[in-house]
Amino acid sequence: MLSAAPPPKALLLAGAAAAVAALVYLRRRRALPPARRARIAVVGCGGWAQGWHLPNISNRPDAQLVALVDPADDPGAGGCLHGRVESMSDLAARYGVPRYKTLQALLEERRDELDGVLVAAPHGHHCSLGLAVLEAGLHLLLEKPMCADPGFLEARKAVRQGVLGEVRSVSCVFAAPLGWLFEGADHVRWSRSEGSMRGNGFGWGQLSHTFAWVFGVTGLTPATVFAAAVHSESTGADIHDALTLTCTNGAVIAVCGAGTAPDAGFKVVANWAKGARLQVWRHDGAHSAGAPFAFESLDQAGPGPGSLHAFVSACRGEEYEVGAGPVEGLKAVAAIDALYRSIRSGKPESVAGCEGFSESRVAA
Ligand SMILES: NC(=O)c1ccc[n+]([C@@H]2O[C@H](COP(=O)([O-])OP(=O)(O)OC[C@H]3O[C@@H](n4cnc5c(N)ncnc54)[C@H](O)[C@@H]3O)[C@@H](O)[C@H]2O)c1
Repeated sequence: MLSAAPPPKALLLAGAAAAVAALVYLRRRRALPPARRARIAVVGCGGWAQGWHLPNISNRPDAQLVALVDPADDPGAGGCLHGRVESMSDLAARYGVPRYKTLQALLEERRDELDGVLVAAPHGHHCSLGLAVLEAGLHLLLEKPMCADPGFLEARKAVRQGVLGEVRSVSCVFAAPLGWLFEGADHVRWSRSEGSMRGNGFGWGQLSHTFAWVFGVTGLTPATVFAAAVHSESTGADIHDALTLTCTNGAVIAVCGAGTAPDAGFKVVANWAKGARLQVWRHDGAHSAGAPFAFESLDQAGPGPGSLHAFVSACRGEEYEVGAGPVEGLKAVAAIDALYRSIRSGKPESVAGCEGFSESRVAA
């Protein structure tokens, strides 16, 4: 039975849920003179950083790259652009900035020359690097997923209100042509577990986008996950995931993730996605469609996606909007961790790490 306020009830239809490019945790706002450029260091200089973040930052007149950090002289091994990235010495020369091997060394020498740090290291390193940046009092743009172990996280409850009313059911399909990444021998960072990760593949790599979007929009909190997966015969990565989640308020979420969609099929979806709209169909008949939006900016010659814009604005002491923050990051990570446990056990698994979030219950 409903113990919460009565309807409006709503059914959220999320077609291809890959809206959130990165997790932004903007900790402190400091007023800077308007003319000052955001001073940014990039930590983890592999494929994604070299392909997008670094060119995007250097294209922006309001941002300044201060330093690069990567322990590897030849970065990007096993990453998304394996074999197609520059060495750290070439990269440092290209951007005219110093290179450090560790974040700690950077902070010891240049903490006061920085406004923010962008972390694009492999998944298993996100938590420790992200915390070190926050503890240094700097703004942080953290690539997804926020970390790979929900047990280390603390977060606060987000109270969300909006036109969706009471969300009771979410249906979500995410298909991507990423067989080359999850099944390729060269991209082991995307298929092999590191640290406390219980598995690796489409779950960590892509469902982190889906979950950040769903939890961000709905405010739901995952309670249990029941999942099954198809694994790659070559790498062992989960490449197709089917799962149901229950939420703390009794709502249900169904997610279908397909990681080896044909390229040609994806092009159709991608074209559609460029003009995607969020449609809200309500029981009271107030159906509506939002403005068209693109899921992610992949324009290397441009100023980068909304997450980078928000990060630069925060570093400059300007107004900014957080697309996916620490609460969405925590929920996404906790759900993915339970997903991998459920794949192994063959049973529904409880989501750990989201205690303290509570919504009013809907009818079970
Ligand atoms: N937003 C998106 O759509 C999107 C797309 C691709 C990748 N990504 C994310 O970008 C991140 C990097 O992915 P990638 O494919 O570029 O990986 P990658 O392996 O190519 O690059 C990561 C780099 O981090 C370095 N590194 C490892 N440990 C480090 C540490 N302690 N400190 C600093 N650097 C360290 C590695 O040497 C490597 O060069 C991942 O979090 C991934 O999820 C996001």
